[in-house]
Amino acid sequence: MADPKERPTRQNLSLNLPSSSTSTSRASYAVRVHADTDPHLNRSVALITGASSGIGEALARVFAQRGYDLVLGARRIDRLEALAKELEHSCRISCSVQSCDVMCTEDLDALAQAARDRFGRIDIVVANAGYSAQGRVDQFSEEEIQRQLEVNVMGVVRTIRATKDDLIASQGRLAIMGSVNSFVSVASTGVYAMSKHAVKALADALWYEMHPQGVSVTHLAPGFVASEIRGIGRNGEPASGHRRNPPAWMVMSTETAARKMVNAIESRRRERILTTFGHFIISVERHARWLLARIIRRFKLTKPGASY
Ligand SMILES: NC(=O)c1ccc[n+]([C@@H]2O[C@H](COP(=O)([O-])OP(=O)(O)OC[C@H]3O[C@@H](n4cnc5c(N)ncnc54)[C@H](OP(=O)(O)O)[C@@H]3O)[C@@H](O)[C@H]2O)c1
Repeated sequence: MADPKERPTRQNLSLNLPSSSTSTSRASYAVRVHADTDPHLNRSVALITGASSGIGEALARVFAQRGYDLVLGARRIDRLEALAKELEHSCRISCSVQSCDVMCTEDLDALAQAARDRFGRIDIVVANAGYSAQGRVDQFSEEEIQRQLEVNVMGVVRTIRATKDDLIASQGRLAIMGSVNSFVSVASTGVYAMSKHAVKALADALWYEMHPQGVSVTHLAPGFVASEIRGIGRNGEPASGHRRNPPAWMVMSTETAARKMVNAIESRRRERILTTFGHFIISVERHARWLLARIIRRFKLTKPGASY
């Protein structure tokens, strides 16, 4: 059996991407070469769930700028169609969009099939779709907790089950969207953090399981990133006024976050934590939990309705 510590090499990867963190431009070049030297194959293909807004939309833009063809899924198909039109025009790539609810296995199977039908391959999968249900655990109904886990955990599982054979065939890259809450669970984040701890555990196991098959697995763990995430309520539906906005200095722009994430995926990194504040909080959780408790008290985060 292959040693799981061994990084994928030039011999066992079809795209021959270098693994250093400074490899982005060379990686993009390699992807283009792949397309140019074999006219019978299309460009590399990235499939993204939850691409209708926020991080998923920004990831689509970065992949398009780097020459990938795209397969995008989300429920708001009008947004996906507008994005596809824009990216096909500005980046000269091909983009397939599909209405897809990650709570539905058939939708994800159809999304993967759309990729096969249109492009014949899938090189990168980003299981990104999700929302963040915030509040004290005793404020949740059982249905709300179930829905959070259905979307954030089972949605990721369904995405992987629908695409893993394609990734093995392409010796591709799988990215799973976690969060700083994959490491840290504090008052008012319990249900969301439970879902993100679960996908980190999944990513960790899959890294061992898929590595021998030539597929890299990257766990992405953003801190605060600008998006529409704070406009969704505990029941997964649009809501307003239920959450505070974090201070601007804590929030990374969507474009910067997406660029860093694509760099991590292209260079097959195992994990990428984003934002300085995110790194800080994870480090405090690991090494000085007493300080975390003080921060929670300082920002009064145990009160209902106090979460970011
Ligand atoms: N922004 C942050 O600060 C932050 C921090 C840590 C982690 N994250 C994670 O990043 C991911 C993206 O969130 P975001 O911040 O970009 O928020 P966002 O702007 O609200 O985007 C969420 C995306 O997920 C899709 N989605 C939600 N429920 C879905 C479902 N049932 N089926 C299919 N798609 C669904 C939405 O599309 P439709 O509504 O059109 O279906 C949308 O495209 C999430 O997993 C989130 O937990 C975000």
